[in-house]
Amino acid sequence: MRTETGTVIRLEDYRPSDYLIETTDLAFTLEPEGTVVRAKLGIRRREGIAADTPLSLDGDELTLAGIKVNGETLAENGYTAAPDKLVIGELPADDTFTVEIETTLDPAANKQLMGLYRSNGTYCTQCEAEGFRRITYFLDRPDVLSVYTVRIEARAEDAPLLLSNGNRIDSGSLENGWHYAVWHDPFPKPSYLFALVAGNLGVVRDSFTTMSGRAVALEIYVEHGKEPRAAYAMDALKRSMKWDEDAFGREYDLDVFMIVAVSDFNMGAMENKGLNVFNDKYVLADERTATDADYANIEAIIAHEYFHNWTGNRITCRDWFQLCLKEGLTVFRDHEFSADMRSRTVKRIAEVKLLKAHQFPEDAGPLAHPVRPRRYSEINNFYTATVYEKGSEVVRMIRTILGPEKFRAGLDLYFDRHDGEAATIEQFLKAFEDASGTDLTQFALWYEQPGTPNLTVDSKFDQDAKRFTLTIEQRLKPPIEGAPHQAMHIPVKFGLVGASGDIEWTAANGAEITGDVIHLRQPKHEIVFEGVAERPVASLLRGFSAPVTVYPEPDDADLAFLARNDSDEYGRWQALSALVVRQMKQAAAKQADAHADVFDDATCEIFTGIAADEDYEHAFRALCLTLPSENDIAREIGNDIDPDAIHAAHMAASRQLGRVAEGVFARLFHGLAPTGSYSPDAASAGKRSLRNIALAYLCHADRTSDLAAKVFADADNMTDRAHALTLMAHLQPRADATLDALKAFQAEFRNEPIVMDKWFMIQATAPDAKTLDTVKALTNQPGFSWDNPNRIRSLIGAFSAGNPTGFNRADGEGYQFLCQAIARIDGHNPQVAARLLTAMRSWKNLEQARREQARMAMTALASKQHLSRDVRDILDRTLA
Ligand code: TRP
Ligand code: ZN
Repeated sequence: MRTETGTVIRLEDYRPSDYLIETTDLAFTLEPEGTVVRAKLGIRRREGIAADTPLSLDGDELTLAGIKVNGETLAENGYTAAPDKLVIGELPADDTFTVEIETTLDPAANKQLMGLYRSNGTYCTQCEAEGFRRITYFLDRPDVLSVYTVRIEARAEDAPLLLSNGNRIDSGSLENGWHYAVWHDPFPKPSYLFALVAGNLGVVRDSFTTMSGRAVALEIYVEHGKEPRAAYAMDALKRSMKWDEDAFGREYDLDVFMIVAVSDFNMGAMENKGLNVFNDKYVLADERTATDADYANIEAIIAHEYFHNWTGNRITCRDWFQLCLKEGLTVFRDHEFSADMRSRTVKRIAEVKLLKAHQFPEDAGPLAHPVRPRRYSEINNFYTATVYEKGSEVVRMIRTILGPEKFRAGLDLYFDRHDGEAATIEQFLKAFEDASGTDLTQFALWYEQPGTPNLTVDSKFDQDAKRFTLTIEQRLKPPIEGAPHQAMHIPVKFGLVGASGDIEWTAANGAEITGDVIHLRQPKHEIVFEGVAERPVASLLRGFSAPVTVYPEPDDADLAFLARNDSDEYGRWQALSALVVRQMKQAAAKQADAHADVFDDATCEIFTGIAADEDYEHAFRALCLTLPSENDIAREIGNDIDPDAIHAAHMAASRQLGRVAEGVFARLFHGLAPTGSYSPDAASAGKRSLRNIALAYLCHADRTSDLAAKVFADADNMTDRAHALTLMAHLQPRADATLDALKAFQAEFRNEPIVMDKWFMIQATAPDAKTLDTVKALTNQPGFSWDNPNRIRSLIGAFSAGNPTGFNRADGEGYQFLCQAIARIDGHNPQVAARLLTAMRSWKNLEQARREQARMAMTALASKQHLSRDVRDILDRTLA
């Protein structure tokens, strides 16, 4: 168990290592409970470093079994070894020398899933961020790049498959049924990109010919029997490889690209050089077991990890403060990929919804931090929505500011300059500045200042002078880390909307405007448009051109006008959702009962119009018809939140729309009934989502899930089945039909853990007084495991983050349950435990009684003796 040290790592303390590790030769003798690792490190002392400078290597729970320098066993006074550190004091005077280190590991006992562990009998590794130090003592930091050669030995029967990074250069059999393979990766890499997989798995093979004509072997490894479920992942991989060549000129660089799916994994997937390791739920899919959303996630994550080969691996991060350099940029790239594969507007709306649901609350609460943090005590806690999603938005804004051509030129320059290096955000921005001639000094504040800027907008129109004046003020919430907030460079895509399209203007003063982008740079701009013939409504932040809020939003009439008339499709969705959120907020504030009307006639008409409008894509209509979640409404209300009132308003809103547009929904439901065989493509998925939305409204209108029960019984694919089961379990959780359907689902999928995750999640998110009892009972189901992150997330994570009324029970039992679960999980998997605790990040916004309950539950957790650094860090910041 890792102990809390209280050490804070600061960006300003960065300095290069005294020693480099130019080559790393590893030899693994794999045994489930007694693996031996021999590492031979080719060390170089950096110029100017004194020969008596000790070599201090990182470790984590390591046992040293032997140590040599230049082939000679070291005397005991030549070094000091602790589980977390090996310091070698006695070193040769030469600048280069070798260090050989032997460690022994117990992979079977490794439940942290960091370092070398066993998942379903397969040996696998996870080294990002600091897992390599659980394998051998090393300079475990991303700016130490080394060329790896890896020899793996194992019993052939247990592990016919022996994989590591790069190319296999040798293999053969050994005595007593053992065998070996040797892998060499020619690209110098940081230790966090090392990977080893050994076991008995099935494989799907394909190949890809790169733009320069090189053949690359593609291999996806999955459990035996699951090979057909890897077909979609393979297809997504090939499309990713082609797209990165077309969109960014990036070609793959090894002879083989491998993906391994494992069932025990802390995160989504990992971009180890040439050997990506995936959480199997992001690889395996067929229509019987995966939903359309699962397919879309698989496509995006396969692409994300593949794109890391250039943005992350060829150019890596100097230190972990620069994490967004690889993650924000790679998320931006996978977003663009999905936009090209699917519908751009629909994809963008989905991204914005996700950003607002996860990043905005993070940025508005106690866990707020800059896109590039300046300090951390546990780096695993900084794989956040801010680093990933806001980091991607920052890259997107660079493109908006520079335009696509200069953006591409800047990225090309970045690749040229820094290939093979460990880079910083400053170097990244400099490449764009040099390629475009644009000064990004002010823009760089996006990396430094936490919090979501708010824009206050005012406008007036002078008909006689044909003058439209737009006043925009930017403001950040009070500083979180002390530094005064400075005005940011905010690109605002806009249009002046009239009754028949965008209105022309002849001149504008008060802000720089390039094309359809206003560049806000001052705290306040008064922008005067001349030659405006009719009163316009300003459509601002088209395509969500900057991650900011606008308060107050335009009035209902202007929002309704934009929802109907904005020439920009995204803008129409944005206006409608602002209108809907406002009216739902008002209903929640009034403690409206389930019979009251939530929406005014104009809003209902817009809904009905979009539902019936055949000119729109199905997926776009489905998104427009999807009400903001209860968490969305809570976020917009901001403080003194009463989750029960929000839930009541939400139910009333669904019921009202269901009644008002019952005819349209009935037509959609019947008209979009599946014909022919299932296909996961975006257009077919869009039809299913619109039909399923219609089904949901019909159920809400009737207050029964009878129709859903029929869909559940008849459906031939998981998208429709899981959606129908959700409606049943959420509308009538205790009805016999619901319990029967849950039983039938369990009977069919009891041996398919990632499908059972849906079953756990559906029950955990039911808004019912009994749900907490159900969740507790489900932890004793044979299908549940406290050791598996997917099970934990689908039951406990879904309950705490996705069941606002159940989790925020007024008696505080939801909070107590979560905190007790965290204490239990923290004993073996601190990373997952700490992640679960982020469900508490908005506790200060709750109404007073719940706030007190939440505080008490967290204080009880904080009083425990042996909390990990991961949980302690989140807890301290959350309670502060
Ligand atoms: N780099 C991974 C990504 O693609 C993230 C990741 C996977 C990770 N596993 C991890 C980060 C374990 C920390 C710990 O985004
Ligand atoms: Zn990533």
